Amino acid sequence: MAEFEPKVTAFVCTWCTYAGADLTGTSRIKYASNVRVLRVPCTGRIDFMYVLQAFTQGADGIIISGCHPADCHYTSGNYHARRRWIVLRALLDFVGVDTRRIHFAWVSAAEGAKWADLVNSVVSNVRELGPYDEYRQTIPAHIRPGGIAV
Ligand code: FES
Repeated sequence: MAEFEPKVTAFVCTWCTYAGADLTGTSRIKYASNVRVLRVPCTGRIDFMYVLQAFTQGADGIIISGCHPADCHYTSGNYHARRRWIVLRALLDFVGVDTRRIHFAWVSAAEGAKWADLVNSVVSNVRELGPYDEYRQTIPAHIRPGGIAV
């Protein structure tokens, strides 16, 4: 039987992490190819529903990454994202979603190696957790979110 290859969706801001991921490529640093990058203007633009939709569309793990604190191109978007992240984590924990499937990080445009390490680490963790869809079946029906099919 083939080894499970997790699908990881990464929501990254265009000004820092996307540029950092680009640097990873131009520096020829190898990292897991399991990640699909979705570029957004700023992490402050990432809605809960994007994350939930990613799971329903087949993602096994999620990365949210943007500029370091005080470096946001829009001044405070990353602070809003961090606050949202705290609420999202608690919400997912409440409904029984293993929060180890979601990782929040700061990666700047100069941190190509950090991006590679982050992706490799998340892919490795999610591989150990197994496919999200199988996991979802183990969430008791009475706490499984009804309307959002997580
Ligand atoms: Fe990067 Fe706001 S522009 S987090």
